[in-house]
Amino acid sequence: MEQRFVAKNALPLKDSFTTRWQAPSNIALVKYWGKTTPQLPKNASLSFTLSNAVTQTQVEFAPLENPSKSVSFTILFEGEKKPSFRPKLETFFANILPYQPFLTHYQLAITSHNTFPHSSGIASSASSMAALAACLVDLEAQLSSLTEEDKINKISFLARLGSGSACRSTQGPMMAWGTHTAIANASDLWAVPVSDIHPVFTDYCDTILLIDKGQKKVSSTLGHKLMHQHPYAEQRFAKANAHLSELLPILQQGNLEVFISIVEKEALHLHAMMMTSDPYFILMQPNTLSVINNIWAFRKETSIPVCFTLDAGANVHVLYPNEFDAQLKQFIEGELLQYCENRQCVHDKVGTGIKKY
Ligand code: PMV
Repeated sequence: MEQRFVAKNALPLKDSFTTRWQAPSNIALVKYWGKTTPQLPKNASLSFTLSNAVTQTQVEFAPLENPSKSVSFTILFEGEKKPSFRPKLETFFANILPYQPFLTHYQLAITSHNTFPHSSGIASSASSMAALAACLVDLEAQLSSLTEEDKINKISFLARLGSGSACRSTQGPMMAWGTHTAIANASDLWAVPVSDIHPVFTDYCDTILLIDKGQKKVSSTLGHKLMHQHPYAEQRFAKANAHLSELLPILQQGNLEVFISIVEKEALHLHAMMMTSDPYFILMQPNTLSVINNIWAFRKETSIPVCFTLDAGANVHVLYPNEFDAQLKQFIEGELLQYCENRQCVHDKVGTGIKKY
């Protein structure tokens, strides 16, 4: 229990309070894969905060005459009641209730939608948990005094309890999560923005190629669990932390050659962990490999510093500096969309994090 995050003197309001926040997805460059309870990472990770792939969430807090035992809520996602979303939200509310006990005094009406296709493999749990956490902390700020720093750290802290990587969606352009010798203020409990970034990374582009829009075949919950008995787990955690040490100076200098090599290695290490776990999984599809080979050939031919990264699925994130936007759009349209389901992709770029809408 983290005492510093327990709401203090937060007296319930008499009137209803409605708030709306949007939060972006994020794409990890150094991957988080493996955790301990409660949602504490086994290695430090670092991500680009995105800007177009966002979840927009409204919460109406209506005071109850008598407080309930747990958090009472309704959820409407893209206009529909979603019973399948309830278990994850119930667990989330049970986890955060010790930190926001005043929530039992309200009926919450949550209305939410994504600006990107749900279950596309784009991390909707990151954006949705960060947006919801922002709404919850906004209510808390009405009830008790919180500094801006308290607020942003608490949003990241609560979001983490919903979905680990969600804690990295609150600020931009990059966030790091997990204690690490090279990041003085880093914590396992919430994510911090990475400062001193070369301008090339502040408007980096990420085109997400939707190779397989079906439900993820391995949930990240299961994936993290598979790291418990994994023969290479300790080496992986050490390697991820070493990659982060290597990447930090590169992020200041803007050396794209080294950046590309670390980012692509991270993506492949993540997938190597899944291929060598028990049970084992191959989450890439033939089209994932075709895209990767095309990116490598294009990079060799043009010397344009484009690279890929992957989440725990078949989709490919194509990463490139903004100055090559026109050439990349043409390459993606001409060569890569043929490998996507219904030729679908989402053009995104680095962004600034949560905001009111
Ligand atoms: O936040 P979770 O539990 O859904 O895990 C996310 C894990 C990866 O997306 C594969 C990597 C990461 O660091 O975001």
